[in-house]
Amino acid sequence: MAAPIDPRLLPTNVTMIEGDVLIGGVSLTQLAAKYLTPLFVYDEDMLRARCAEAAAAFDDGVAFASKSFLCGAMAKIAVDAGLCIDVATEGEMDLVLRAGVRPDRVIVHGNNKSEQELRRAIELGVHRLIVDNFDEIDRLERLADPARPVQCLLRVTPGVEAHTHEFVRTGQEDTKFGLSIQRGDAARAWGRLRSMSGVEAVGIHAHIGSQIFDTTAFEATISILGDFVRDLGVREVCVGGGIGVPYVAGEMAPSLTEWGAAVRAAANIHLPEGTRLTAEPGRSIVAAAAVTVYKVGAIKPVAQRTYMAVDGGMSDNPRPVLYGSGYETFAVGDPLAERSEAYRVVGKHCESGDVLVDEAWLPVSTGVDDLIATPVTGAYGYSMASNYNRVPRPAVVFVRDGVDRLVLRRETMDDLFRLEV
Ligand SMILES: Cc1ncc(COP(=O)(O)O)c(C=O)c1O
Repeated sequence: MAAPIDPRLLPTNVTMIEGDVLIGGVSLTQLAAKYLTPLFVYDEDMLRARCAEAAAAFDDGVAFASKSFLCGAMAKIAVDAGLCIDVATEGEMDLVLRAGVRPDRVIVHGNNKSEQELRRAIELGVHRLIVDNFDEIDRLERLADPARPVQCLLRVTPGVEAHTHEFVRTGQEDTKFGLSIQRGDAARAWGRLRSMSGVEAVGIHAHIGSQIFDTTAFEATISILGDFVRDLGVREVCVGGGIGVPYVAGEMAPSLTEWGAAVRAAANIHLPEGTRLTAEPGRSIVAAAAVTVYKVGAIKPVAQRTYMAVDGGMSDNPRPVLYGSGYETFAVGDPLAERSEAYRVVGKHCESGDVLVDEAWLPVSTGVDDLIATPVTGAYGYSMASNYNRVPRPAVVFVRDGVDRLVLRRETMDDLFRLEV
């Protein structure tokens, strides 16, 4: 038995009424009828507010981590709020440029950048290139152009083990990202970058992981980075992203403002005065701004539990399969009722592991053809979506002041066929 869904897990501009849920003043029931299901619905004002909060929490140069959720409309919201955009591949870079983001607001990541990616970043004059390894430095030596110096941060691993799922933990020594401070690799790489023409070694970068619930690991990171940068001529430090968000009732996480304040306080103690302090949050900007709406297609009791199958699944939200992530659910048509019935909400894919919510609580009234929704699905859902089983990717709609705006249309069967030769 569970109480009605906690509104704190829902987008800021939500209204729950008898028989429906409105986000940004727009009925989820009507949106589902208009755009079909599954459907991602984002509270646009909340996205804007979170971008503004991130921009205010650090120095200029804070980036939105586009891997968490990327489309042209989102990129525009981020840059309108004064954020840069962090991209991890040429595909992400290409999309944000096509969306009209100026190259000098783009921060280029990647642990295996191709020559083509590096060449493009240099020619475009991106804001920052985050250098990951010695082979990349070799490539940069060949490609760097003194006529177009590229401003670089070196990605380092501080040796901090953040308390989060091992697949999203990156600050420890045993990781594919960045160069180790402890082994001396980071210092050697920094020396090489500093001596290269066509490269301006501006500072260092550390991203210790994702979905981290307290600020102590960030504070520890700043302290280690402070020791490392002393006397190195580092002008800028980026603490990456990673602050967590509550997905289910009872979870607590610091806000972007609280995270920024904690990191700043540590920086004041440990970093040389005047160091530019930036970050690149993703999840904490977009996750809670969206819900995914599904239609129930089948309900099947077995001896151990009752399965509820919906019209999406691991193709629109692979996080439960990848990380065992938990979610809550609510019935769009009965949001204020006690949730007395437990279901395992599963998708329509040909995998037993295609589970969206292991133990979902819903009102007794919920049945086939009803709409249910999972909150906090704005990050690493659509961006990790796939066409497994040739399932078309859902549409994404932004809502604001009673108006809906389609930003990504639903894929069609033709879209699924377009690569055939
Ligand atoms: C280098 C880097 N920066 C920023 C982020 C964003 O992290 P989050 O969405 O947890 O804030 C990630 C996520 O994987 C990352 O790898």
